[in-house]
Amino acid sequence: MKSYFLLNPKITYLNHGSFGACPKPIFESYQNWQQQLEMDPVHFIVNKGQEAMNKSKKVLADFIKCDPIDLVFTPNPSYALNTVIRSLNLNPGDEILTTDQEYGAMDRTWNYYAKKTGAVYKKQKINLPVDSKDRFLDAFFQGLTKNTKIVFLSHITSSTGLIFPIEEICKKSNELGILSIIDGAHVPGHIPLNIEALDPTIYTGACHKWMLAPKGTSFLFVKKDFQKSIDPLVISWGYNSDNPTASQFQDYHQMQGTTDFSSYLTIPDCIEFFNQNNWKEETKQSRNTLLNLAPIVAKELESNLLTTNFDDFLGQMCSIPIKTTQPIKLKEYLYHKENIEIPIMEHSDKVYLRLSFQPYNTANDIEKLVDAIRKIKTSTTLL
Ligand SMILES: Cc1ncc(COP(=O)(O)O)c(C=O)c1O
Repeated sequence: MKSYFLLNPKITYLNHGSFGACPKPIFESYQNWQQQLEMDPVHFIVNKGQEAMNKSKKVLADFIKCDPIDLVFTPNPSYALNTVIRSLNLNPGDEILTTDQEYGAMDRTWNYYAKKTGAVYKKQKINLPVDSKDRFLDAFFQGLTKNTKIVFLSHITSSTGLIFPIEEICKKSNELGILSIIDGAHVPGHIPLNIEALDPTIYTGACHKWMLAPKGTSFLFVKKDFQKSIDPLVISWGYNSDNPTASQFQDYHQMQGTTDFSSYLTIPDCIEFFNQNNWKEETKQSRNTLLNLAPIVAKELESNLLTTNFDDFLGQMCSIPIKTTQPIKLKEYLYHKENIEIPIMEHSDKVYLRLSFQPYNTANDIEKLVDAIRKIKTSTTLL
């Protein structure tokens, strides 16, 4: 499988989670779109590219189960969430209930707008290890008050690599009349996603991670009755459009000035790659291999996994808390001395090593990592 990817064959790549990796046929399609754009820029940007984008959006909507009219492409989830959070009209004392395991860039965005508006970004502690959805939900919703206006959570967390019980969170938020904003950066192509069934107010996901699209391919979903509340991040031709379409949401958010949107057009190729390569079964096997071998890595690190309930909480990523005072040097050592690309992430007062496992990985990659850890333990002070 690795030969399908552009990844450097000399590097043991255990970090799909950070920026994904794009297979050759999808990357070729991306370059082909770029070439078409440059051959006939006006016609492509105004006509042909728009038709291709609508088709691509429809294919994406089928894959993540929602109405394509409720979906716009964005370069990344940060862009999508900045669009949303800036539009929220937060008032002093309004509370946004979240967890202590959110992605640093998103924490920064919320903190920025909380400071500007006097709203409170309230991080509920999720005790680790997590073993039961019910206990998770109890702990999370203990943070509810009469001022809670929004819940914000990752569907799959970044540094701890855990699947959160978003279905139950959205259900309860809807019962309580609270907005749900879900950061699904790691979800599309990783675990099944059915936005219609989840029924969140807002959902964003990256396609350039587990859907294998080229970098800069993501989406923002906004529920119909909330779309009028979301201003575009960039005011452009679609705002007070001279030729409005039936969807103000599309007009406002999809055309945001001149840009190369070729990466958005590769979604049908991603789905074709999945179908041609039996991706569902391949990734199921990858997950099994990961979950069989991750405990061996944890043992070598004299640590434990963050859950024993693999069914509910783990996909193709698995984080292990480690003891090191030099996380940056440890990551550099693994990359430069052992040719292993793996993230070592600091979060709150903990450091995590996160394994990602895709069909291009083999058990041999984990063996290499275990050997490297042994060497580091005996010959350096990094662990
Ligand atoms: C949980 C989570 N949210 C959001 C993001 C999106 O980051 P960006 O917008 O920089 O692509 C990531 C990226 O890894 C992530 O892990």
